[in-house]
Amino acid sequence: MEAKGTPPLSLVIFGASGDLTRRKLIPALYDLWMDGLLNPGIEILGVARRLKSHQAFREEVSEGIRAHSRSGVRDDDRFQAFLSQIFYQATDFEDPSGYDTLRSFLASSERIGKTRGNVLFYLATPPSYFIPIIRQLGAHDLNVGLEPGAFVRIVIEKPFGRDLKSAIELNRELLGVFREEQVYRIDHYLGKETVQNILVFRLANPVFGSLWSNVHVSRVEIKVMESLGMEGRGGYFEEAGIIRDMIQSHLFQVLSLTAMEPPVAFEAKAIRDEKVKVLRSLKPYSREELALNILRGQYGPGMVEGTPVVGYREEDKVAPDSQVETFAAMRVEVQNWRWAGVPFYLIAGKRLSRKSTEITLFFKEFPFAIFRLSQCEDHVPNTLTIRIQPNEGISLRFGLKRPSSVLNIDPAEMDFSYQKSYQGNPVDAYERLLRDAMVGDSTLFARDDEVEKSWGYITPFLSDSFPVPEPLPYKAGSDGPEGLTDFLNYS
Ligand code: BG6
Repeated sequence: MEAKGTPPLSLVIFGASGDLTRRKLIPALYDLWMDGLLNPGIEILGVARRLKSHQAFREEVSEGIRAHSRSGVRDDDRFQAFLSQIFYQATDFEDPSGYDTLRSFLASSERIGKTRGNVLFYLATPPSYFIPIIRQLGAHDLNVGLEPGAFVRIVIEKPFGRDLKSAIELNRELLGVFREEQVYRIDHYLGKETVQNILVFRLANPVFGSLWSNVHVSRVEIKVMESLGMEGRGGYFEEAGIIRDMIQSHLFQVLSLTAMEPPVAFEAKAIRDEKVKVLRSLKPYSREELALNILRGQYGPGMVEGTPVVGYREEDKVAPDSQVETFAAMRVEVQNWRWAGVPFYLIAGKRLSRKSTEITLFFKEFPFAIFRLSQCEDHVPNTLTIRIQPNEGISLRFGLKRPSSVLNIDPAEMDFSYQKSYQGNPVDAYERLLRDAMVGDSTLFARDDEVEKSWGYITPFLSDSFPVPEPLPYKAGSDGPEGLTDFLNYS
Protein backbone atom coordinates (compact mmCIF):
# COMPACT_ATOMS: atom_id res chain seq x y z
CA MET A 1 0.00 0.00 0.00
CA GLU A 2 2.91 2.41 -0.76
CA ALA A 3 2.57 5.80 -2.49
CA LYS A 4 3.15 5.73 -6.23
CA GLY A 5 2.99 8.41 -8.91
CA THR A 6 -0.23 8.45 -10.93
CA PRO A 7 -0.65 7.90 -14.69
CA PRO A 8 -1.89 10.66 -17.03
CA LEU A 9 -5.68 10.66 -17.25
CA SER A 10 -8.93 12.58 -17.55
CA LEU A 11 -10.81 12.61 -14.26
CA VAL A 12 -14.51 13.26 -14.92
CA ILE A 13 -16.48 14.23 -11.82
CA PHE A 14 -20.26 13.95 -12.15
CA GLY A 15 -21.89 16.11 -9.49
CA ALA A 16 -19.25 18.83 -9.77
CA SER A 17 -21.30 21.54 -8.08
CA GLY A 18 -21.92 19.46 -4.96
CA ASP A 19 -20.45 19.78 -1.53
CA LEU A 20 -18.28 16.68 -1.85
CA THR A 21 -16.48 18.05 -4.92
CA ARG A 22 -15.87 21.43 -3.35
CA ARG A 23 -14.95 20.32 0.17
CA LYS A 24 -13.21 17.00 -0.43
CA LEU A 25 -12.39 15.94 -3.99
CA ILE A 26 -10.78 19.06 -5.47
CA PRO A 27 -8.85 19.95 -2.28
CA ALA A 28 -7.56 16.34 -2.13
CA LEU A 29 -6.48 16.50 -5.79
CA TYR A 30 -4.79 19.81 -5.15
CA ASP A 31 -2.89 18.38 -2.15
CA LEU A 32 -1.73 15.43 -4.27
CA TRP A 33 -0.61 17.95 -6.90
CA MET A 34 1.31 19.98 -4.34
CA ASP A 35 2.99 16.80 -3.04
CA GLY A 36 4.09 16.02 -6.59
CA LEU A 37 1.97 12.86 -6.71
CA LEU A 38 -0.22 13.81 -9.67
CA ASN A 39 0.92 13.26 -13.20
CA PRO A 40 1.18 16.61 -15.08
CA GLY A 41 -0.93 14.92 -17.77
CA ILE A 42 -4.04 14.98 -15.58
CA GLU A 43 -7.14 16.89 -16.67
CA ILE A 44 -10.11 17.34 -14.39
CA LEU A 45 -13.54 17.81 -15.91
CA GLY A 46 -16.42 18.79 -13.66
CA VAL A 47 -19.87 17.80 -14.95
CA ALA A 48 -23.10 19.17 -13.47
CA ARG A 49 -26.44 20.52 -14.61
CA ARG A 50 -25.96 24.25 -14.15
CA LEU A 51 -24.53 26.29 -17.00
CA LYS A 52 -21.19 27.92 -16.16
CA SER A 53 -17.85 28.66 -17.79
CA HIS A 54 -14.56 26.87 -17.10
CA GLN A 55 -13.41 30.07 -15.41
CA ALA A 56 -16.47 30.29 -13.13
CA PHE A 57 -15.95 26.66 -12.08
CA ARG A 58 -12.27 27.31 -11.39
CA GLU A 59 -13.20 30.23 -9.15
CA GLU A 60 -15.73 28.08 -7.31
CA VAL A 61 -13.22 25.31 -6.63
CA SER A 62 -10.51 27.83 -5.67
CA GLU A 63 -12.59 28.79 -2.66
CA GLY A 64 -12.89 25.14 -1.70
CA ILE A 65 -9.13 24.72 -1.99
CA ARG A 66 -8.43 27.76 0.16
CA ALA A 67 -10.87 26.61 2.83
CA HIS A 68 -10.26 22.86 2.89
CA SER A 69 -6.89 21.85 1.46
CA ARG A 70 -4.06 20.61 3.67
CA SER A 71 -1.35 22.49 1.76
CA GLY A 72 -3.10 25.87 1.46
CA VAL A 73 -2.32 28.36 -1.30
CA ARG A 74 1.29 29.40 -0.79
CA ASP A 75 2.72 29.19 -4.29
CA ASP A 76 0.53 31.08 -6.73
CA ASP A 77 2.24 29.71 -9.86
CA ARG A 78 1.62 26.12 -8.84
CA PHE A 79 -1.92 26.97 -7.76
CA GLN A 80 -2.66 28.57 -11.15
CA ALA A 81 -1.01 25.65 -12.95
CA PHE A 82 -3.36 23.27 -11.09
CA LEU A 83 -6.44 25.39 -11.90
CA SER A 84 -5.52 25.48 -15.59
CA GLN A 85 -6.01 21.68 -15.71
CA ILE A 86 -9.65 22.05 -14.62
CA PHE A 87 -12.60 22.24 -17.03
CA TYR A 88 -16.37 22.25 -16.79
CA GLN A 89 -19.24 20.85 -18.81
CA ALA A 90 -22.95 21.51 -18.18
CA THR A 91 -24.95 18.34 -18.76
CA ASP A 92 -28.29 16.97 -17.72
CA PHE A 93 -27.24 13.52 -16.47
CA GLU A 94 -30.07 11.82 -18.35
CA ASP A 95 -29.59 13.63 -21.65
CA PRO A 96 -27.72 11.50 -24.24
CA SER A 97 -26.42 14.55 -26.13
CA GLY A 98 -24.34 15.56 -23.10
CA TYR A 99 -22.46 12.28 -23.39
CA ASP A 100 -21.74 12.93 -27.08
CA THR A 101 -20.16 16.23 -26.04
CA LEU A 102 -18.28 14.46 -23.25
CA ARG A 103 -16.96 11.83 -25.62
CA SER A 104 -15.77 14.44 -28.12
CA PHE A 105 -14.07 16.34 -25.30
CA LEU A 106 -12.24 13.26 -23.98
CA ALA A 107 -11.33 11.92 -27.41
CA SER A 108 -9.96 15.10 -29.00
CA SER A 109 -6.45 14.54 -30.29
CA GLU A 110 -5.12 17.34 -28.12
CA ARG A 111 -6.53 15.63 -25.01
CA ILE A 112 -5.46 12.13 -25.98
CA GLY A 113 -1.93 13.47 -26.49
CA LYS A 114 -1.95 14.51 -22.87
CA THR A 115 -4.01 11.86 -21.09
CA ARG A 116 -3.22 8.92 -23.41
CA GLY A 117 -6.95 8.21 -23.42
CA ASN A 118 -7.10 7.03 -19.78
CA VAL A 119 -10.32 7.99 -18.02
CA LEU A 120 -11.48 7.84 -14.43
CA PHE A 121 -15.17 8.62 -13.90
CA TYR A 122 -16.27 9.71 -10.43
CA LEU A 123 -19.96 9.59 -9.51
CA ALA A 124 -20.41 12.20 -6.78
CA THR A 125 -24.10 12.76 -7.56
CA PRO A 126 -27.19 11.85 -5.51
CA PRO A 127 -27.61 8.05 -5.81
CA SER A 128 -30.75 8.35 -7.99
CA TYR A 129 -28.45 9.39 -10.88
CA PHE A 130 -26.04 6.46 -10.59
CA ILE A 131 -27.95 4.09 -12.88
CA PRO A 132 -28.89 6.71 -15.53
CA ILE A 133 -25.23 7.83 -15.76
CA ILE A 134 -23.90 4.27 -15.92
CA ARG A 135 -26.35 3.44 -18.71
CA GLN A 136 -25.40 6.54 -20.70
CA LEU A 137 -21.68 5.81 -20.32
CA GLY A 138 -22.32 2.31 -21.67
CA ALA A 139 -24.51 3.56 -24.52
CA HIS A 140 -21.74 5.95 -25.60
CA ASP A 141 -18.98 3.31 -25.38
CA LEU A 142 -17.35 5.30 -22.63
CA ASN A 143 -16.75 2.06 -20.70
CA VAL A 144 -13.82 1.09 -22.94
CA GLY A 145 -10.48 2.82 -23.46
CA LEU A 146 -10.35 5.63 -26.01
CA GLU A 147 -6.98 4.36 -27.20
CA PRO A 148 -5.46 0.88 -27.36
CA GLY A 149 -4.01 0.09 -23.93
CA ALA A 150 -5.88 2.96 -22.23
CA PHE A 151 -7.91 2.25 -19.08
CA VAL A 152 -11.37 3.35 -17.99
CA ARG A 153 -12.38 3.10 -14.34
CA ILE A 154 -15.36 4.30 -12.37
CA VAL A 155 -15.50 5.43 -8.75
CA ILE A 156 -18.85 5.39 -6.96
CA GLU A 157 -19.63 7.16 -3.73
CA LYS A 158 -21.78 5.51 -1.09
CA PRO A 159 -24.63 4.67 -0.63
CA PHE A 160 -24.40 1.63 -2.90
CA GLY A 161 -28.12 0.93 -2.72
CA ARG A 162 -30.54 1.38 0.17
CA ASP A 163 -31.26 -2.30 0.87
CA LEU A 164 -30.29 -5.68 -0.49
CA LYS A 165 -32.60 -5.50 -3.50
CA SER A 166 -31.40 -2.10 -4.69
CA ALA A 167 -27.75 -3.00 -4.03
CA ILE A 168 -28.12 -6.07 -6.24
CA GLU A 169 -29.78 -3.96 -8.91
CA LEU A 170 -27.02 -1.32 -8.81
CA ASN A 171 -24.36 -4.01 -9.07
CA ARG A 172 -26.20 -5.60 -11.98
CA GLU A 173 -26.40 -2.30 -13.86
CA LEU A 174 -22.78 -1.47 -13.12
CA LEU A 175 -21.48 -4.87 -14.12
CA GLY A 176 -23.62 -4.82 -17.24
CA VAL A 177 -21.44 -1.93 -18.44
CA PHE A 178 -18.12 -2.21 -16.57
CA ARG A 179 -16.04 -5.16 -15.40
CA GLU A 180 -15.66 -5.49 -11.62
CA GLU A 181 -11.93 -4.64 -11.94
CA GLN A 182 -12.96 -1.24 -13.37
CA VAL A 183 -15.25 -0.43 -10.42
CA TYR A 184 -14.04 1.39 -7.28
CA ARG A 185 -16.75 1.67 -4.59
CA ILE A 186 -15.46 4.28 -2.20
CA ASP A 187 -15.94 4.17 1.56
CA HIS A 188 -13.85 7.02 2.89
CA TYR A 189 -13.28 5.25 6.23
CA LEU A 190 -10.94 2.87 4.43
CA GLY A 191 -8.82 5.86 3.40
CA LYS A 192 -8.21 6.87 7.00
CA GLU A 193 -4.65 6.21 8.15
CA THR A 194 -5.84 4.80 11.48
CA VAL A 195 -8.28 2.39 9.81
CA GLN A 196 -5.50 1.08 7.59
CA ASN A 197 -3.37 0.69 10.69
CA ILE A 198 -5.82 -1.86 12.17
CA LEU A 199 -4.31 -4.60 10.02
CA VAL A 200 -0.75 -3.44 10.52
CA PHE A 201 -1.24 -3.30 14.27
CA ARG A 202 -2.75 -6.78 14.38
CA LEU A 203 -0.50 -8.49 11.90
CA ALA A 204 2.87 -6.86 12.59
CA ASN A 205 2.77 -7.18 16.38
CA PRO A 206 2.69 -10.72 17.80
CA VAL A 207 2.17 -9.33 21.30
CA PHE A 208 -1.23 -7.95 20.30
CA GLY A 209 -2.06 -10.22 17.35
CA SER A 210 -1.91 -13.29 19.57
CA LEU A 211 -4.56 -11.85 21.91
CA TRP A 212 -6.96 -11.26 19.01
CA SER A 213 -9.59 -13.96 19.59
CA ASN A 214 -12.27 -15.34 21.88
CA VAL A 215 -9.55 -16.97 23.99
CA HIS A 216 -8.71 -13.56 25.44
CA VAL A 217 -11.35 -11.06 24.26
CA SER A 218 -14.73 -10.87 25.97
CA ARG A 219 -16.37 -8.16 23.85
CA VAL A 220 -15.60 -5.56 21.19
CA GLU A 221 -17.12 -2.11 20.78
CA ILE A 222 -16.90 -0.07 17.58
CA LYS A 223 -18.28 3.36 18.34
CA VAL A 224 -18.69 6.37 16.07
CA MET A 225 -19.94 9.42 17.94
CA GLU A 226 -20.65 12.66 16.09
CA SER A 227 -21.56 16.02 17.57
CA LEU A 228 -22.88 17.31 14.23
CA GLY A 229 -26.59 17.20 13.45
CA MET A 230 -28.11 17.40 9.99
CA GLU A 231 -26.10 20.30 8.51
CA GLY A 232 -28.70 20.78 5.77
CA ARG A 233 -28.94 17.04 5.02
CA GLY A 234 -32.29 16.44 6.76
CA GLY A 235 -34.00 15.41 3.53
CA TYR A 236 -31.34 12.79 2.82
CA PHE A 237 -31.32 11.54 6.41
CA GLU A 238 -35.09 11.03 6.44
CA GLU A 239 -34.54 8.48 3.66
CA ALA A 240 -31.43 6.97 5.20
CA GLY A 241 -31.27 6.97 9.01
CA ILE A 242 -28.08 6.13 10.87
CA ILE A 243 -28.17 2.39 10.12
CA ARG A 244 -27.90 2.99 6.38
CA ASP A 245 -25.78 6.12 6.64
CA MET A 246 -23.08 4.82 8.98
CA ILE A 247 -23.48 1.22 10.15
CA GLN A 248 -23.94 -0.60 6.83
CA SER A 249 -20.92 1.18 5.39
CA HIS A 250 -18.29 2.62 7.72
CA LEU A 251 -18.90 0.48 10.81
CA PHE A 252 -19.13 -2.73 8.82
CA GLN A 253 -15.82 -1.89 7.14
CA VAL A 254 -14.18 -1.37 10.51
CA LEU A 255 -15.81 -4.55 11.83
CA SER A 256 -14.46 -6.57 8.89
CA LEU A 257 -10.92 -5.29 9.35
CA THR A 258 -11.04 -5.89 13.10
CA ALA A 259 -12.43 -9.42 12.88
CA MET A 260 -10.94 -10.81 9.65
CA GLU A 261 -8.42 -13.64 9.48
CA PRO A 262 -4.89 -12.77 8.31
CA PRO A 263 -4.95 -12.73 4.50
CA VAL A 264 -2.67 -15.09 2.55
CA ALA A 265 -0.98 -12.03 1.01
CA PHE A 266 -1.17 -8.29 1.52
CA GLU A 267 -2.98 -7.60 -1.73
CA ALA A 268 -6.46 -6.60 -2.84
CA LYS A 269 -8.06 -9.96 -3.59
CA ALA A 270 -6.74 -11.76 -0.52
CA ILE A 271 -7.73 -8.94 1.83
CA ARG A 272 -11.18 -8.52 0.32
CA ASP A 273 -11.78 -12.29 0.39
CA GLU A 274 -11.15 -12.32 4.15
CA LYS A 275 -13.37 -9.29 4.75
CA VAL A 276 -16.24 -10.97 2.95
CA LYS A 277 -15.80 -14.10 5.08
CA VAL A 278 -16.47 -12.00 8.20
CA LEU A 279 -19.74 -10.79 6.74
CA ARG A 280 -20.67 -14.33 5.77
CA SER A 281 -20.00 -15.47 9.35
CA LEU A 282 -22.36 -12.98 11.02
CA LYS A 283 -24.91 -14.82 13.10
CA PRO A 284 -28.36 -14.56 11.52
CA TYR A 285 -31.16 -13.55 13.89
CA SER A 286 -34.74 -14.69 14.04
CA ARG A 287 -37.38 -11.96 13.93
CA GLU A 288 -37.63 -11.94 17.75
CA GLU A 289 -33.85 -11.82 18.16
CA LEU A 290 -33.55 -8.90 15.73
CA ALA A 291 -35.56 -6.67 18.04
CA LEU A 292 -33.43 -7.68 21.03
CA ASN A 293 -30.16 -6.97 19.28
CA ILE A 294 -30.77 -3.42 18.16
CA LEU A 295 -31.47 -0.21 20.00
CA ARG A 296 -32.52 2.93 18.17
CA GLY A 297 -32.60 6.51 19.35
CA GLN A 298 -33.50 9.95 18.07
CA TYR A 299 -32.12 13.22 19.41
CA GLY A 300 -34.26 15.91 20.94
CA PRO A 301 -33.20 19.50 21.65
CA GLY A 302 -30.18 20.09 23.87
CA MET A 303 -26.77 21.71 24.14
CA VAL A 304 -23.82 20.60 22.04
CA GLU A 305 -20.40 21.95 22.91
CA GLY A 306 -21.99 24.90 24.70
CA THR A 307 -24.49 25.82 21.96
CA PRO A 308 -28.25 25.16 22.11
CA VAL A 309 -29.44 23.01 19.20
CA VAL A 310 -32.85 21.87 17.96
CA GLY A 311 -34.11 18.31 18.08
CA TYR A 312 -34.10 16.09 14.98
CA ARG A 313 -37.82 16.63 14.32
CA GLU A 314 -37.27 20.40 14.17
CA GLU A 315 -34.44 20.12 11.62
CA ASP A 316 -35.04 21.44 8.11
CA LYS A 317 -36.79 18.93 5.77
CA VAL A 318 -37.50 16.50 8.63
CA ALA A 319 -41.09 15.40 9.36
CA PRO A 320 -42.36 16.67 12.74
CA ASP A 321 -43.37 13.11 13.65
CA SER A 322 -40.36 11.40 12.06
CA GLN A 323 -39.53 7.90 13.32
CA VAL A 324 -36.09 7.88 11.70
CA GLU A 325 -33.24 6.84 14.00
CA THR A 326 -30.28 9.17 14.52
CA PHE A 327 -28.61 6.73 16.91
CA ALA A 328 -28.28 2.97 16.78
CA ALA A 329 -26.47 0.30 18.75
CA MET A 330 -26.37 -3.16 17.26
CA ARG A 331 -25.06 -6.40 18.72
CA VAL A 332 -23.62 -8.88 16.25
CA GLU A 333 -21.63 -12.09 16.54
CA VAL A 334 -19.02 -13.38 14.14
CA GLN A 335 -19.65 -17.12 14.20
CA ASN A 336 -16.30 -18.66 13.51
CA TRP A 337 -13.56 -20.36 15.51
CA ARG A 338 -11.83 -17.11 16.34
CA TRP A 339 -14.81 -15.10 17.53
CA ALA A 340 -17.70 -17.39 18.54
CA GLY A 341 -19.21 -16.17 21.79
CA VAL A 342 -17.78 -12.62 21.59
CA PRO A 343 -20.40 -9.89 21.09
CA PHE A 344 -19.40 -7.04 18.77
CA TYR A 345 -21.30 -3.82 19.50
CA LEU A 346 -21.64 -1.37 16.62
CA ILE A 347 -22.69 2.05 17.87
CA ALA A 348 -23.23 5.25 15.89
CA GLY A 349 -25.05 8.47 16.60
CA LYS A 350 -25.53 12.11 15.63
CA ARG A 351 -25.60 15.09 17.99
CA LEU A 352 -23.76 13.32 20.79
CA SER A 353 -21.47 14.94 23.34
CA ARG A 354 -18.38 14.83 21.09
CA LYS A 355 -16.85 13.58 17.88
CA SER A 356 -14.98 10.36 18.43
CA THR A 357 -14.48 7.07 16.58
CA GLU A 358 -12.96 4.22 18.57
CA ILE A 359 -12.59 0.46 18.59
CA THR A 360 -12.26 -1.08 22.04
CA LEU A 361 -11.38 -4.67 22.84
CA PHE A 362 -12.28 -5.75 26.38
CA PHE A 363 -10.12 -8.60 27.67
CA LYS A 364 -11.23 -11.51 29.82
CA GLU A 365 -10.27 -11.76 33.47
CA PHE A 366 -8.14 -14.62 34.76
CA PRO A 367 -10.30 -17.65 35.61
CA PHE A 368 -9.41 -17.17 39.27
CA ALA A 369 -9.57 -13.49 40.17
CA ILE A 370 -7.35 -13.38 43.22
CA PHE A 371 -7.70 -9.64 43.85
CA ARG A 372 -11.49 -9.77 44.03
CA LEU A 373 -10.99 -11.55 47.34
CA SER A 374 -8.90 -8.63 48.57
CA GLN A 375 -11.79 -6.16 48.21
CA CYS A 376 -10.38 -4.62 45.03
CA GLU A 377 -13.81 -4.25 43.48
CA ASP A 378 -12.73 -1.25 41.46
CA HIS A 379 -10.45 -3.39 39.36
CA VAL A 380 -11.45 -2.81 35.71
CA PRO A 381 -10.78 -5.18 32.81
CA ASN A 382 -7.81 -4.68 30.49
CA THR A 383 -8.87 -2.83 27.37
CA LEU A 384 -7.17 -1.91 24.15
CA THR A 385 -8.57 1.16 22.39
CA ILE A 386 -7.74 2.19 18.86
CA ARG A 387 -8.67 5.84 18.42
CA ILE A 388 -9.58 6.26 14.76
CA GLN A 389 -10.26 9.99 15.15
CA PRO A 390 -9.69 12.57 16.55
CA ASN A 391 -6.56 12.45 18.75
CA GLU A 392 -5.55 9.39 16.70
CA GLY A 393 -3.72 6.76 18.68
CA ILE A 394 -3.82 3.52 20.63
CA SER A 395 -4.09 3.00 24.37
CA LEU A 396 -3.87 -0.01 26.61
CA ARG A 397 -5.51 0.03 30.03
CA PHE A 398 -4.21 -2.15 32.82
CA GLY A 399 -4.44 -2.40 36.60
CA LEU A 400 -1.67 -1.11 38.83
CA LYS A 401 -1.06 -1.27 42.58
CA ARG A 402 -1.75 2.14 44.06
CA PRO A 403 1.36 3.11 46.11
CA SER A 404 0.07 2.63 49.63
CA SER A 405 0.40 0.29 52.61
CA VAL A 406 -3.00 -1.25 51.76
CA LEU A 407 -3.78 -3.15 48.58
CA ASN A 408 -5.68 -1.17 45.99
CA ILE A 409 -5.67 -1.45 42.23
CA ASP A 410 -5.91 1.64 40.05
CA PRO A 411 -6.46 1.73 36.29
CA ALA A 412 -3.44 3.04 34.36
CA GLU A 413 -2.83 3.61 30.65
CA MET A 414 -0.06 3.20 28.10
CA ASP A 415 -0.78 5.58 25.29
CA PHE A 416 0.51 6.10 21.78
CA SER A 417 -0.45 9.34 20.00
CA TYR A 418 0.09 9.95 16.29
CA GLN A 419 0.21 13.67 16.94
CA LYS A 420 3.13 13.33 19.33
CA SER A 421 5.07 10.94 17.12
CA TYR A 422 4.44 12.40 13.68
CA GLN A 423 4.24 16.07 12.84
CA GLY A 424 2.08 17.72 10.19
CA ASN A 425 -1.54 17.37 9.16
CA PRO A 426 -2.60 13.80 8.40
CA VAL A 427 -3.24 12.96 4.75
CA ASP A 428 -6.97 13.14 4.02
CA ALA A 429 -8.75 9.85 3.22
CA TYR A 430 -9.76 11.15 -0.21
CA GLU A 431 -6.15 11.82 -1.20
CA ARG A 432 -5.26 8.24 -0.50
CA LEU A 433 -8.33 6.80 -2.22
CA LEU A 434 -8.21 9.03 -5.30
CA ARG A 435 -4.59 8.14 -5.84
CA ASP A 436 -5.29 4.42 -5.38
CA ALA A 437 -8.09 4.56 -7.97
CA MET A 438 -5.74 6.34 -10.39
CA VAL A 439 -2.99 3.76 -10.00
CA GLY A 440 -5.48 0.87 -10.09
CA ASP A 441 -5.12 -0.43 -6.53
CA SER A 442 -8.54 -1.61 -5.35
CA THR A 443 -7.47 -2.92 -1.91
CA LEU A 444 -9.26 -0.11 -0.07
CA PHE A 445 -12.50 -0.24 -2.07
CA ALA A 446 -15.59 -2.37 -1.50
CA ARG A 447 -16.16 -5.31 -3.83
CA ASP A 448 -19.58 -6.30 -5.24
CA ASP A 449 -20.01 -9.37 -3.00
CA GLU A 450 -18.94 -7.40 0.07
CA VAL A 451 -21.61 -4.76 -0.54
CA GLU A 452 -24.30 -7.37 -1.12
CA LYS A 453 -23.32 -9.38 1.98
CA SER A 454 -23.45 -6.31 4.22
CA TRP A 455 -26.83 -5.22 2.85
CA GLY A 456 -28.06 -8.81 3.14
CA TYR A 457 -27.27 -8.72 6.84
CA ILE A 458 -28.49 -5.19 7.54
CA THR A 459 -31.74 -5.23 5.55
CA PRO A 460 -33.73 -7.27 8.12
CA PHE A 461 -32.82 -4.66 10.78
CA LEU A 462 -34.30 -1.80 8.76
CA SER A 463 -37.62 -0.36 9.77
CA ASP A 464 -39.15 -1.27 6.40
CA SER A 465 -38.48 -4.94 7.16
CA PHE A 466 -40.36 -5.27 10.46
CA PRO A 467 -42.40 -2.96 12.70
CA VAL A 468 -39.85 -1.34 14.99
CA PRO A 469 -40.72 0.49 18.19
CA GLU A 470 -40.45 4.27 18.24
CA PRO A 471 -36.78 5.35 18.62
CA LEU A 472 -35.81 6.16 22.20
CA PRO A 473 -35.36 9.89 22.77
CA TYR A 474 -31.99 11.27 23.84
CA LYS A 475 -30.87 14.79 24.57
CA ALA A 476 -28.61 16.43 21.98
CA GLY A 477 -25.17 16.67 23.57
CA SER A 478 -25.61 13.49 25.66
CA ASP A 479 -24.03 10.05 25.10
CA GLY A 480 -27.17 8.47 23.66
CA PRO A 481 -30.48 7.09 24.95
CA GLU A 482 -30.78 5.99 28.55
CA GLY A 483 -31.33 2.36 27.64
CA LEU A 484 -27.83 2.11 26.15
CA THR A 485 -26.05 1.00 29.32
CA ASP A 486 -28.49 -1.90 29.82
CA PHE A 487 -28.23 -2.83 26.16
CA LEU A 488 -24.44 -2.98 26.34
CA ASN A 489 -24.46 -5.04 29.53
CA TYR A 490 -26.99 -7.59 28.31
CA SER A 491 -25.53 -10.88 27.22
C1 BG6 B 1 -20.59 10.10 5.86
C2 BG6 B 1 -21.98 10.17 6.39
O1 BG6 B 1 -20.42 8.97 5.04
O2 BG6 B 1 -19.66 10.02 6.95
C3 BG6 B 1 -22.13 11.37 7.31
O3 BG6 B 1 -22.90 10.27 5.31
C4 BG6 B 1 -21.08 11.35 8.41
O4 BG6 B 1 -23.42 11.41 7.89
C5 BG6 B 1 -19.69 11.16 7.82
O5 BG6 B 1 -21.14 12.58 9.11
C6 BG6 B 1 -18.69 10.91 8.93
O6 BG6 B 1 -17.39 10.92 8.39
P1 BG6 B 1 -16.13 11.29 9.28
O7 BG6 B 1 -14.97 11.07 8.40
O8 BG6 B 1 -16.32 12.71 9.72
O9 BG6 B 1 -16.19 10.35 10.47
